[in-house]
Amino acid sequence: MSSPSTLHDLKAHVGETVTVHAWLTDKSGKGKLQFLKLRDGTGFVQATVFKNDVSEDVFETARRLSQEQAVTVTGEVRADERAPGGVELGVRDLVVISENPAEYPITPKEHGIEFLLDHRHLWLRHRRPWAVLRVRDCVQRAIVDFFHGEGFVRFDAPFFTPNAAEGTTELFEIDLFGEDKAYLSQTGQLHAEAGALAFGKVYTFGPTFRAEKSKTRRHLLEFWMVEPEVAPSDHGENMALQERFVSFLVRRALEECGNELETLGRDVEKLRPAASGNYPRVTYTEALEIIQRHIEEGDLPPNVQADVQAVEWGDDLGAPHETILGSHFDRPVIVEKYPAAIKAFYMQPDAEDPRLALCDDMIAPEGYGEIIGGSQRIHDYDLLKSRIEHEGLPLEAFEWYLDLRRFGSVPHAGFGMGLERAVAWITGIDHIREAIPFPRMLTRMVP
Ligand code: 4AD
Ligand code: MG
Repeated sequence: MSSPSTLHDLKAHVGETVTVHAWLTDKSGKGKLQFLKLRDGTGFVQATVFKNDVSEDVFETARRLSQEQAVTVTGEVRADERAPGGVELGVRDLVVISENPAEYPITPKEHGIEFLLDHRHLWLRHRRPWAVLRVRDCVQRAIVDFFHGEGFVRFDAPFFTPNAAEGTTELFEIDLFGEDKAYLSQTGQLHAEAGALAFGKVYTFGPTFRAEKSKTRRHLLEFWMVEPEVAPSDHGENMALQERFVSFLVRRALEECGNELETLGRDVEKLRPAASGNYPRVTYTEALEIIQRHIEEGDLPPNVQADVQAVEWGDDLGAPHETILGSHFDRPVIVEKYPAAIKAFYMQPDAEDPRLALCDDMIAPEGYGEIIGGSQRIHDYDLLKSRIEHEGLPLEAFEWYLDLRRFGSVPHAGFGMGLERAVAWITGIDHIREAIPFPRMLTRMVP
């Protein structure tokens, strides 16, 4: 008999008798047969208990098992074409590890999303969260591998910051013992810029915080952002890096997470074009024209309201506009050169038309909206200082940031990708809240 196996590895043990530690997810049975659905974190498998194969005690134990009891099961691994993992377990022995004192709340029937989120600590055990969060893990590893492969240094930005970088309305303010103000960081970018001037190519990767007051399926209060920053670099190189990066992540997910994506019912054919690069690029002005055309022709994706208004030049794109634009292409589209007035203060103006910023957003297809925002940064001291003043930001808090322009300043660029937005798109789930183990939203701080 072999030592304990994982359910994921069972297919390598067909014909052998193995022992596994597992939890019961569901059970059915008739007469002399009990079918136990087991999970162990690595996978799911069905175990069959046939009365004639086991002792009376074991059969009785199997019959009485309840959902989420922990068990140790010994049995023979049998090939089974119809089983999801290609194998099932013929039980010989079964030992109960946990006598659960209460009934497990998430029964196999349908539950509403709020109920499931209230029980997120338990819901994590079920197939759907299991699959989504394994894809998240895969994408996180791919992020690290990609930047390592491109010669970047991981550079951790602080979570407490003196700076408002992405507008002042979305800040969580921290009470610093009545002294100066601090905020939970909305972005690691400003500190990453210091890192880029010290190390050349860096990336930050960690949680960021935004006091988003609107409830949407794309916004969390706490989300993970990966932010590469390169010095020297420019807008063109920045867009090329984004395309290499996102296509790498999608390739990796397709290679490694076939089982998870299938569990989620993800149509991977819709994802495949994004794996091969060649992302279309349009300017903000061209994007408005594409959106306008779709509205005029009534050619709208199903989740966009028929009375959607066109975007006036100078206004930001709303979620429905991003959905229309994203659906126009079969892979992510890069929208560059937005009006500087609707973008962050640190963005380098376009030399050909200073009303525009040398920035871009990457918009995912299938209605997932913006997954990346990035730009070339202002490297000129006087220009940056005047932009900070013009925004009404406190100059003292930005003195350190201005030092980066006082000493050895060069054109540089970077971007930020929201991990949960990318994972929601790759997995095809319809709300970002399921792309993180414990979502934090306006209406949700528990568990
Ligand atoms: O476009 P944003 O605001 O850009 C920045 O923060 C830059 N400082 C990044 C940089 O250049 N280093 O945010 C970047 C990305 C968005 O494209 C989106 O994917 C994600 O962060 N994001 C959110 N994800 C979840 N919930 C929210 N509330 C988010 N806000 C932004
Ligand atoms: Mg943005």
